[in-house]
Amino acid sequence: MHFTRRRFLQGSAATAMAAGIGSGFGFREARAASPILRAGEGLARLAPGEYPETKVWSYGDAVPGPAIRLRQGERLTRRFVNALPQPSTVHWHGVRIANAMDGVPGVTQDAVPPGGSFDYDFTVPDAGTYWYHPHNRTWEQLARGLYGPLIVEEADPPAVDRDEILVLDDWRLDENAQIHEESFGAMHDWAHAGRIGNWITVNGKGESRISVKKNERLRLRLINAANARIFHLSLKGLKAWTVALDGQPLDAPVPADRLSLGPAQRIDLIADVVAGEGEEAFLTSHERTRSGEETFALTGFPVSGAARDAALADPPPLPPNPVPALGDLDAARREVLQMEGGAMGRMQGAMMGGGFMQMRDLAGAGKVWAFNGRADMGEEPWITVARGETVRIALTNDTAWPHAMHLHGHHFRQLGAAGPGPLRDTLLMDQAETAEIAFVADNPGDWLLHCHMVEHSAGGMMTWLRVQA
Ligand code: C2O
Ligand code: CU
Repeated sequence: MHFTRRRFLQGSAATAMAAGIGSGFGFREARAASPILRAGEGLARLAPGEYPETKVWSYGDAVPGPAIRLRQGERLTRRFVNALPQPSTVHWHGVRIANAMDGVPGVTQDAVPPGGSFDYDFTVPDAGTYWYHPHNRTWEQLARGLYGPLIVEEADPPAVDRDEILVLDDWRLDENAQIHEESFGAMHDWAHAGRIGNWITVNGKGESRISVKKNERLRLRLINAANARIFHLSLKGLKAWTVALDGQPLDAPVPADRLSLGPAQRIDLIADVVAGEGEEAFLTSHERTRSGEETFALTGFPVSGAARDAALADPPPLPPNPVPALGDLDAARREVLQMEGGAMGRMQGAMMGGGFMQMRDLAGAGKVWAFNGRADMGEEPWITVARGETVRIALTNDTAWPHAMHLHGHHFRQLGAAGPGPLRDTLLMDQAETAEIAFVADNPGDWLLHCHMVEHSAGGMMTWLRVQA
């Protein structure tokens, strides 16, 4: 198997980069005694040693930020301290959270100004893999390194030898390994695929390694923290099953072959090491490049020693979370969401503020996408639903781009010919694809529905709905 090394791209010219191995990695575990989550400016060694460290914005002085781990049903308290030069908030992505703690400026709280703080305090109803990130100027703050994992452990966790979090990110760096700031807010990114980068990290490292043993059973928690990149992944030397998507367990483990991981999505895998002693297993990324598809090693798993003589039996499913079952789908409320705009689309214009604006004027105001003909959030909710109502939303992607549709405060299921699919909080939709999702609106408050390609949401792919108390 041949792996191509990562490289920086400056403009269209590829600059060859020497190989460098990160000096091991790990998360700084959040200290239980410290309820502070501080966001500030710092440095991170994203690139190999011959490059300077990268100036980043980070939580707890680390990229990713501290892994917050707690037990299902426990209370999470953090004082968010903003030492950034911009207002910010913390959004706890995928948590079926109390609305006031959802971290959306202008909707659930005011943005926290530089020097300010905000006390987050909520309970986590579901076990699984979640993450936290800012929800103000996300297209800049996320790209600068503000994200961290939030892990909620099952009351009865599955039997594994090792539980590893792998946070994937896609950075746009210049030839000095610094964040490419000039392209923040670039309309070209906003109207196309979003801010696609040129330097991929796992847990903040260009090359990450985890030592394993033959026949060892791993739980791998994949989190896509990139602004816009969709990862196409596979595993070599690991026999793996998908056991949860976006934190929510599957009814039965599914053998993991090729995996798509859209922005903000998570996949929990149970992976048994089948590579032999002295070999290396890999998490790999498949990317379309000029020369066709290339395979890159994201994380290597060098194998030394054996955990046991023979492979374990196939894993059982994870215990289910207390997500309410969908009500009667025939009697459910039906809504339609038309996604439009972007480059190579046919949108002529959209409503913004009180009136209709032509595409050119919209673009001048930073909007290039629309939901149902609206390019801004609007003063009134898109829909208001009764608490406990089952809602069906038919989504039509009438654009030339894929999108990652994310609903706050709830998990939904995609409806298909074979019945409702797995619970998710973020749905990847291909260009021109239609999909129907359904969820029980059991969580009162005002909730966003947006594309998680964060340039797209900033550019108009964002709306909100109200669940009555
Ligand atoms: Cu990851 Cu609106 O959020
Ligand atoms: Cu999008």
